[in-house]
Amino acid sequence: MPHASIMRQITDFANRADPYPVYEELRGTPVLHEEEGGPYIISSYYDIKALLHDPRISSDATNLAAAGDDELAQSEETGGLPPSFLRLDPPEHDRLRRIANSAFGPPHRPRRIESMRGDMREIVNGLIDGFGDAREIDLVDQFAYPFPVTVICRLLGVPREDEPRFRAWVDPLVASLDPDTRQGADAEFQKEAQEARMQLGMYLAGLVEKRTKEPRDDLLSDLVNSRGPDGSMTMMEVLSTSVLLLIAGHETTVNLITNGMLTLLRHPDILRRLGEDPGLSVNIVEELLRYEPPVQLVPQRTCIADIEVRGVTIPKGSRIWLVLAAGNRDPERFKDPQRFDPDRGDIQHLGFGSGIHSCFGAPLARLETQIALSELARRLRDPRLVEDPPPYRPNAVLRGPRHLNIAFEGLV
Ligand code: HEM
Repeated sequence: MPHASIMRQITDFANRADPYPVYEELRGTPVLHEEEGGPYIISSYYDIKALLHDPRISSDATNLAAAGDDELAQSEETGGLPPSFLRLDPPEHDRLRRIANSAFGPPHRPRRIESMRGDMREIVNGLIDGFGDAREIDLVDQFAYPFPVTVICRLLGVPREDEPRFRAWVDPLVASLDPDTRQGADAEFQKEAQEARMQLGMYLAGLVEKRTKEPRDDLLSDLVNSRGPDGSMTMMEVLSTSVLLLIAGHETTVNLITNGMLTLLRHPDILRRLGEDPGLSVNIVEELLRYEPPVQLVPQRTCIADIEVRGVTIPKGSRIWLVLAAGNRDPERFKDPQRFDPDRGDIQHLGFGSGIHSCFGAPLARLETQIALSELARRLRDPRLVEDPPPYRPNAVLRGPRHLNIAFEGLV
């Protein structure tokens, strides 16, 4: 059989459990272009970082469609809503991101995320208590999947009594955005996702109306009532921003928690240290974002001018893939990059991207994962993996296990 192209190997499911040897081979050709009309694939840390800050690289979905990738261009489609700021270029991107940020973090709302610490601990411990007398659990279904959506409900200001309904809509919606699920989906599944999208949109629109009339101390109230120098968001912009926060922050956080527990169970000394010292979770989470990043590559960028990278001219209109996970293990940037080492002094990873689109929800994702992993380490007695490697989801971009079965000897 002829040797498969490196691009095909990146997307090949057979490499999902351990894509790192493919990335190592990829770094041997820092600007890889294997197929006419195919993407230019960038894998070195410094090149990725420079391109993420380069104004000649566009995130606009219409440019992606023009470059011939209709499927990716549509992957963020959220049922009639305008594109979210993830898929916009400046100046629109910057205006919407600034308004959203004034509701989310410093300097306007310095305590919004930090003040959720108690709530997060309560949700995490509720889920762990829910394991009951079991001696084996699936961490994905029973813990990592329900946690972030409950947190985002509280952050947006969804009333507690509505949380179960909200979650029932979000689950099929998130699943339908996964390219692999979409390919294999039957008509009934698509209908369910479509229905969920409509219900969620209507529910959020109703909530926006309530919060416009009677603001509360929650993110949605701040989004709808923002009156800063950037003006305010329209109702449709508030809705597409809320859906973006839901979608961008869900599967990613599920995968960071799951990849995190998998990595810790493969490094039992570090897991034990974390159980004794929750403060270690800060470095552990940063090192995980380097070593096992939930977003492996950013495939939705196009060049809006000719760009030269390492002597190769990437023509205007080309698609670019930035392989964050390859850059994170680049030996030009990190010493001993294949080693999981939360004690390393310098962990400036690409796990949250970089530049104007760098992850908006990073403070939230960090705190959620720090609390989730330190509480699991503290409360599970003698945890061990049932299956290694675990089964993976097919998605090559948002990579993570489908299930993570863990055996243990009860709870503390
Ligand atoms: C471990 C969890 C997470 C990871 C690994 C992650 C990763 C990323 C990455 C790599 C990007 C850059 C995409 C690009 O350059 O095109 C990004 C953007 C973004 N993320 Fe996250 N994310 C996580 C959690 C969250 C959470 C919890 C939220 C919100 C609740 C969130 C909201 C966003 C938004 C809104 C953007 C777009 C920013 C912009 O276009 O200006 N993310 N994320």
